[in-house]
Amino acid sequence: MLKSFVIMDKKFLISKINRLRKEKNAVIMAHYYQIPEIQDIADFVGDSLALAQQAEKTAADIIVLCGVYFMGETAKILNPRKKVIIPDENAGCSLADSCSAEEFEKFIKAYPNHTVVTYVNTTAAVKALSDITVTSTNAKKIVESLPKDEKIIFAPDKNLGDYINSQTGRKMLLWEGACHVHEQFSLEKLLKLKSQYLDAQILAHPECKKPILLVADFIGSTQALLNYSEKSEKNQFLVATESGILHQMQKQSPKKEFIPVPPDDSTCACNECNFMRLNTLEKLYECLLTEKPEIVLDENIRKKAVKPIKKMLEMSGK
Ligand code: 13P
Ligand code: SF4
Repeated sequence: MLKSFVIMDKKFLISKINRLRKEKNAVIMAHYYQIPEIQDIADFVGDSLALAQQAEKTAADIIVLCGVYFMGETAKILNPRKKVIIPDENAGCSLADSCSAEEFEKFIKAYPNHTVVTYVNTTAAVKALSDITVTSTNAKKIVESLPKDEKIIFAPDKNLGDYINSQTGRKMLLWEGACHVHEQFSLEKLLKLKSQYLDAQILAHPECKKPILLVADFIGSTQALLNYSEKSEKNQFLVATESGILHQMQKQSPKKEFIPVPPDDSTCACNECNFMRLNTLEKLYECLLTEKPEIVLDENIRKKAVKPIKKMLEMSGK
């Protein structure tokens, strides 16, 4: 009885969201780490690069960015005249938080004559201090495109930076930042799972620590992991990234089995990003209705931050 009430209620909420987005010419964009209900209602679901690309070319008047704050900021940086709203303004990112603009500016000054490459998981103020941004989809390609003798600072993710160094033979200077979700995966539990699923392939996001990456069969951004799992001839996958991605993996390959790699601490659901999970259908409805919380940026910062993002989008070639 209660269950059917909840289902009815959700259907009603979805119909209200659908009406509002049409009336307001709003586009709903969602990252792969969003809860399944939000991924399913979104006009577009993608990784951080694809979200930035979509934000750049959308014809909508309002962009509802269901992800974390820096993703909303990226959409606003690219669309200063459009309204960008997010369901929950507390949806931060531990990786972006690990690199404050003040500290980063001091770091850059301490190492002059370096090209500053930053991961999109940064605040607008940190992007404004950067020469070029990257995502996990294009980081290798963009770093490789820089002259071989170029001195490079890479921030904020030390695991991704270390992985790119290993792939390109560069010696980028790394900022000591990390994501609290990707740092949590337990090698011991992963190897135990592998002994139960002998034929399974291990898929890992490059934000994971080196021991996890060393045993992975495939390393890539959320989009790359998804593509790989669909094309692979294997039927079982142990997935070392935020578990929200399993929803799309399962949708694209219903006959395959996807097992989330557990975190070190078995008392928490730490393979779920608590920031990404703040967004709910109710908050999505509220934000479409009130057009709040809205992303508002200092125009000086925005103008500086747009350059490294545009450079990345040009080099990503879509
Ligand atoms: P992607 O660039 O793979 O979408 O990753 C974003 C992110 O926040 C990973 O934790
Ligand atoms: Fe940030 Fe990590 Fe959450 Fe990605 S999973 S949004 S890097 S805290």
